[in-house]
Amino acid sequence: MTRACGLDFGTSNSAVGVIRDGRAELARLEREGALIPSAIFFDFETNKPLFGAEAIETYMGQVEGRLMRALKSILATPLMKEATLLKTQRITFEAVIGLFVAEMKARAEAALGAPIDAVVHGRPVHFVDGDAAADRFAEDTLRVIAENRGFKHVSFQYEPLAAARAYEASVREETLALICDIGGGTSDFSVIRLAPERRARTERKDDILANYGIRLGGTDLDRHLSLEAAMPALGLGSFLHTKTLPMPRQLYADLAHWPSINQLYTPATRRMVRELEADAVEPAKARRLRTVIEKHLGHQLAFSVEAAKIALSAEDETPIEMGFIEPGLSAPASRDGFEDAVATERARMAAAVKETLARAGTAAEEIGTVFLTGGSSRVPVLRKAIASVVSPNKFRAGDDMLSVAMGLTEEARLRYG
Ligand SMILES: Nc1ncnc2c1ncn2[C@@H]1O[C@H](COP(=O)(O)OP(=O)(O)OP(=O)(O)O)[C@@H](O)[C@H]1O
Ligand SMILES: [Mg+2]
Repeated sequence: MTRACGLDFGTSNSAVGVIRDGRAELARLEREGALIPSAIFFDFETNKPLFGAEAIETYMGQVEGRLMRALKSILATPLMKEATLLKTQRITFEAVIGLFVAEMKARAEAALGAPIDAVVHGRPVHFVDGDAAADRFAEDTLRVIAENRGFKHVSFQYEPLAAARAYEASVREETLALICDIGGGTSDFSVIRLAPERRARTERKDDILANYGIRLGGTDLDRHLSLEAAMPALGLGSFLHTKTLPMPRQLYADLAHWPSINQLYTPATRRMVRELEADAVEPAKARRLRTVIEKHLGHQLAFSVEAAKIALSAEDETPIEMGFIEPGLSAPASRDGFEDAVATERARMAAAVKETLARAGTAAEEIGTVFLTGGSSRVPVLRKAIASVVSPNKFRAGDDMLSVAMGLTEEARLRYG
């Protein structure tokens, strides 16, 4: 007999749903619940990989090793096949994602109490913008990973359609819905006709008017906030004595971007930050940069920036805590400053919503419901961007971090029985 699951491998968080007694339910992958951070920590002392919350806690505890997060962002890039050095062994990013998928499968099987051999795998509409070959490459990679990890049947579903499936469980009457799934790495949209009597159908081609997506998510907002509010405390924008050159911006851009942080932990970068500090007009700031590189504090800084970004969804001002770099250090961040820093992303979001409606051949007035899901759908400036196209009176929000996984599982139930 085939036992199926729905698997939402997210840039920031993942979840798996299983089918128990013919009903879809989310598997408890972590102590706290169904959601597991998409993070792996390779502990250099024990030589063992740790996953999810335990991975992050261990990294924060200053154990020597390597934290990896936002791995989904590199799925559509040639980096996938490249090997990264972990202490003494080399491992490809594909193999790292394989370890994570195997762990999620094992935890879901433990929760269900039975082996699972089929999966409906979520995927963004586009992993990257305007590159169909890269999209195919990313899906093929996920398929091979799932097969190598023991799934005999692997099929895919667009993440916003999965979210639509989950939302449809609660609709009372027919509505033309715009689904917006704004996550950690991508923003995905579907225009779909939802109705109670259509729920049980597997084939929804006639109901789906458009699917569209762009590579814009919470990790991009983190990067902008970091460059705007945190990196200046580490010397961004300050100068060198030599030819009054500025500190190199690329270094800060890499440090502010989750997937590239680990690439800075090399002897060449260590040498470079030492030379920069010696030449800096403001050496105290450059010293903080050196501390972050030498002590591998890049992810810790990124977590602080992310926490500040989340706080700014509810507050006008918040400090970015950096006491782990230098006792008492913090940098102020404001909602206004953040919104200015992400102005281009706000415009991209509005343009993507317009493009989705254009592809559906639907006027904004015809949309009955806007279903918002994904962690970054809580960001006020992104909501404003969507509201500039479709009336916010139509906004509905669900269990915003879990609706994709729930919908994938419902889909798995319908496809595999
Ligand atoms: N209250 C909040 N305000 C702002 N951002 C938030 C909030 N809560 C969560 N986020 C952000 O939401 C993102 C994670 O959302 P989610 O779990 O939906 O993404 P994901 O499914 O992992 O990513 P993707 O679907 O793009 O692969 C993170 O960037 C996180 O910082
Ligand atoms: Mg998601």
